[in-house]
Amino acid sequence: MLEGVSAQPPSDGMSSDPVSVLVLAAGEGTRMKSATPKVLHRIAGRPLLEHSVRAAAGAEPDELSVVIGHGRQAVDEHLAALQDGLGRRIETVVQQEQLGTGHAVRCGREQRESAGTVLVTYGDIPLLDSATMRALLREHRRSGNAVTLLTAVVEHPAGYGRIVRDAAGEVTSIVEQKDATPEQATIDEINSGVYAFDARFLDTALRRLSTDNSQGELYLTDVVAIARGEGLGVGALVCSDNWLVEGVNDRVQLASVGAELNRRMLLHWMREGVTITDPSSVWLDCDVRLGRDVVLEPNVRLRAGTTVGEGASIGPETTLTACSIGAGAEVVSTHGEHAEVAAGASVGPFAYLRSGTRLGEDGKVGTFVEVKNADIGAGTKVPHLSYVGDATVGTNSNIGAATVFVNYDGVAKHHTVIGSHARTGADNMFVAPVRVDDGAYTAAGSVITDDVPPGAMAVARGKQRNIEGWVAKRRPGTAADEAAQRALADRENSTENDE
Ligand code: UD1
Ligand code: MG
Repeated sequence: MLEGVSAQPPSDGMSSDPVSVLVLAAGEGTRMKSATPKVLHRIAGRPLLEHSVRAAAGAEPDELSVVIGHGRQAVDEHLAALQDGLGRRIETVVQQEQLGTGHAVRCGREQRESAGTVLVTYGDIPLLDSATMRALLREHRRSGNAVTLLTAVVEHPAGYGRIVRDAAGEVTSIVEQKDATPEQATIDEINSGVYAFDARFLDTALRRLSTDNSQGELYLTDVVAIARGEGLGVGALVCSDNWLVEGVNDRVQLASVGAELNRRMLLHWMREGVTITDPSSVWLDCDVRLGRDVVLEPNVRLRAGTTVGEGASIGPETTLTACSIGAGAEVVSTHGEHAEVAAGASVGPFAYLRSGTRLGEDGKVGTFVEVKNADIGAGTKVPHLSYVGDATVGTNSNIGAATVFVNYDGVAKHHTVIGSHARTGADNMFVAPVRVDDGAYTAAGSVITDDVPPGAMAVARGKQRNIEGWVAKRRPGTAADEAAQRALADRENSTENDE
């Protein structure tokens, strides 16, 4: 379909001309003071650039290209993965030296000249959505402009390019902060950096840009004055939601834009029927799915890939990464990653579910319990103070308090199997590989090294012996000795009275 569209002759219709999007992401992002390229810093679990590229992809352009430069290997790797995830082609164009936004677009256009419309956006404005990009495209096509800008009226325009309009209100140019006269600096309508261009006009205008400005850069913004000079139409779509065009230049903005995105996602989920008792302390990634009547208690963080089924309750104090929580389950004060918890199960408080944990329906992983790579069957309970690693446990069994699945011999990991309806005693060690069969019991304090057949009771501990009078002989005159003497005397008296 992609080839079909771009193979069309230059379009004379307004709505079918091919659209290409260029995402500029070559800048260094010096103010981040980071070893990581700015556009790979994350909010809501996704790099800034991924937010921008997904929004661009949602506008369904025929071509989607990203101009990369600083940290380009890491950025390119992320884009390759994203291309697979989105199932659409993402071209990358390298801008060797960052000589300005006009130069970046020139690099992008040199590689792929096409007619139609070119949308330009940035890799560091993560809240811009597909709907706004489509609206810009519609306005551009409707007006037949050479350039249509996305602008915003802001309280603090410092740092942005200002939109200069003539007496008739028509846009005549964009002036950068550093080149603005004091009068221009008071203009509160700013350039968001998102534009729709007629491709043929853009390509000629790019050749006419100069570095004659305070930063010695090729400014993309100068294309506006060039269009006006040619008598071509320049229009602006004023974005009414300023957050959508908010850029990230430093970590302060990273936090504030991230918080706003989170706030919006929480509103979305509350409107979908999720109860969030304290929205100020709940953080969600984009790739999270929540069912109706889910309750999120305070201090909950749900990271990418986590799904929570209808009516389940999460928190307080819980972080889950790529976990799937079944309907009606309850997860309290828990840290979980790549774990599956089936419907009606209960986890925590103070549980750690590590990768490969699978807890069956109505099962329980209780307090101070760590589970790793283990299948715990439906109705089975591990209530207290235990480590379950590399194990398969059947259904409706009970694992006694303070049990350790001894899975590691210092060299290799081994597997333990516990059957169904088993009752294992408190303070057991299961030294893997070992198997406790269906319906078997084990005695408290046992170190189980041999398989236990179905229905057997395994006792694996030293037999108790009491050495009478040991304290009187070895610890005479101590408080323990005195207490013991009193207890023995009491006992003697009570036997005499009974007689
Ligand atoms: C630019 C605009 C300004 C606008 C502002 C909005 C120009 C000259 N100015 O200013 O009018 O208000 O954005 O945020 O365009 N980039 C490259 N290669 C380069 C230079 C930049 O890829 O050579 C990319 C950056 O990675 C960034 C984006 O382009 O994502 C914007 O560059 P930046 O230097 O931040 O431009 P501003 O000075 O903010
Ligand atoms: Mg900027």
